[in-house]
Amino acid sequence: MRKYTGLRAANYNKDRAHNKAFRWQQEVVKKILLRLQPRQVLDAPVGTGRFFEVYQQFPCKVLGIDISPDMLEQAQSIRPENVLLIQTDLFKVEWPEFVVSTRFFGHLKSRENKNRFLSKTQKQLLFSHGPEAYEFIAENNLEVQETYEMGDGKHCITLVERSRSIHPRTH
Ligand SMILES: C[S@@+](CC[C@H](N)C(=O)[O-])C[C@H]1O[C@@H](n2cnc3c(N)ncnc32)[C@H](O)[C@@H]1O
Repeated sequence: MRKYTGLRAANYNKDRAHNKAFRWQQEVVKKILLRLQPRQVLDAPVGTGRFFEVYQQFPCKVLGIDISPDMLEQAQSIRPENVLLIQTDLFKVEWPEFVVSTRFFGHLKSRENKNRFLSKTQKQLLFSHGPEAYEFIAENNLEVQETYEMGDGKHCITLVERSRSIHPRTH
């Protein structure tokens, strides 16, 4: 994956202000978050904090993680009180029940990493991806709860859930 440092980090939002997919993701994720209102969220990778304005609108505690200190510096400048930011690798932390992850899955090139990413889902994952992800969702035994397609054959947003199987008691 390319490095999000220096000017790329500083200009990340500005460079995408007129990007149709970026704006569409913003609207869809906002709509889902405001409806579900999860109490705790892991935003990974949090990037520049593009959903902070949404997190401020309902009572939740958010942990935003990213590997790039420069992206986190941007996020820090607009961080609301209910968001904690930590620089770390999202593969190295345990994921909580609800995770938001935008513009990341598509950057993972190998099957191994795509599966590694989805296998970390504990309960719900709201993520943006391309159409190839459906195959990986099925491979990881995740159930599609909601899916949105932008209509260009490339950009999708899906809420997947890992259902906990309930084993009947035998005695
Ligand atoms: C395209 S940006 C997406 C940021 C944000 N989620 C968004 O939708 O704008 C990709 C981000 O992934 C971060 N990143 C790359 N590898 C990572 C890893 N292993 N753990 C955490 N963050 C990572 C980069 O630093 C960068 O901020």
